[in-house]
Amino acid sequence: MVLQDKRIVLGVTGGIAAYKAIEVCRRLIDAGAHVVPVLTENALKMVTTTTFSVLASEPAQTSLFEGPESIPHTRLGQQADLIVIAPATARLIGSYTAGISDDLLTATLLATRAPVLVCPAMHTEMWEHPAVQANLGTLRSRGVHVLDPEMGRLAGGDVGAGRLADPAAIVAEAMRVLGPNDFAGVDVVVTAGGTREPIDPVRFIGNRSSGKQGHAIAAEAVSRGAHVTLITSANVGVPHGCDVVNVSTAAEMLTAVEKHETADVVVMAAAVADFRPSAIEDAKIKKGDGIPEVLLEPTTDILAGLGAKRHLGQVIVGFAAETSDVEANARAKLKRKNADMIVSNDVSAAEVGFAHETNAVTIHLRDGTSREIGLGSKRKVARSVLDAVAEMRNQF
Ligand code: CTP
Repeated sequence: MVLQDKRIVLGVTGGIAAYKAIEVCRRLIDAGAHVVPVLTENALKMVTTTTFSVLASEPAQTSLFEGPESIPHTRLGQQADLIVIAPATARLIGSYTAGISDDLLTATLLATRAPVLVCPAMHTEMWEHPAVQANLGTLRSRGVHVLDPEMGRLAGGDVGAGRLADPAAIVAEAMRVLGPNDFAGVDVVVTAGGTREPIDPVRFIGNRSSGKQGHAIAAEAVSRGAHVTLITSANVGVPHGCDVVNVSTAAEMLTAVEKHETADVVVMAAAVADFRPSAIEDAKIKKGDGIPEVLLEPTTDILAGLGAKRHLGQVIVGFAAETSDVEANARAKLKRKNADMIVSNDVSAAEVGFAHETNAVTIHLRDGTSREIGLGSKRKVARSVLDAVAEMRNQF
């Protein structure tokens, strides 16, 4: 858990986006962080200290002079592992850039050596103003992390750039900033989800894979600094910070993977169909026309193709969802597909694999050793898989 027990000062400035900081606070706490809320005077016009104090189990602070501490900004700044400003107004950005401290939050920003993540939110005209952009450029050049706002609905019903980044994206960025960064500069391709092989325009042959494990691996890789391409057929949320390629069939997944086959790391977490209908009916098959015979043909084995073409230094990871003889089947797949590791799970066990939030796997490595990863979140499994990949890359 990258954020577990990390002390994060959450700076909340004014503007209507301040209410979204409540969700940011909740998500940081869910991720295990110890959150210290600091609200500016303008933020207090939008949200209350009570909300943040109750959520964070720590009194929200607002002033340099009214709390019990005589010098609260230096304590806050010195003890923080990370400062997140969400939302950050143009005023806050301007003061921080110029080194002006006129309230508790700006004073804390100047009194810290911790990393700082600034998440701007403002009207499009202000966001695009050269002064704001120049200030953000200066902050970036000083090593401050800036998470750009999104396009969307703004205060007053206007639509445009300047909407605070999604709270999930802010937390993912915080994880990336505090993460081990052992995948910095590494190109990672992850496939996820079950493919759908059409029979006719309305029916398909599919499987029960939800894609959650693959998406967790993509999210973990992003948080460790990788450049991630997620090739997915799943309908679950896409992790922040990935390049996403949406596919549906095994053939589409093959084409997408082939475009990225030289990546440093490829993780085939997708449940790719082994067979597809050899012909797809143009029109819906009608019940009245009798029981249809669906003839199948094999799909291309993407993982085996990667294994055959692998380049030196590349790490190729396969998955194996099994219902019997897990160890023997996984070892056989490792050999047959020339992979570096196979992550196997027994999908017939409780709480494991398809559609569950949890998983328990065994990582079978090329050198004949294996590691049991006990029941835990899919993110925990993702961490263990990437730990094994990182170790393998260190041996090259
Ligand atoms: N895989 C693939 N292309 C396919 C089928 C599978 O790349 N056409 C990959 C999966 O993404 C997974 C690994 O191969 O990483 C193992 O998939 P699995 O379906 O368990 O293995 P199969 O080769 O289908 O073997 P079996 O049917 O014997 O279980």
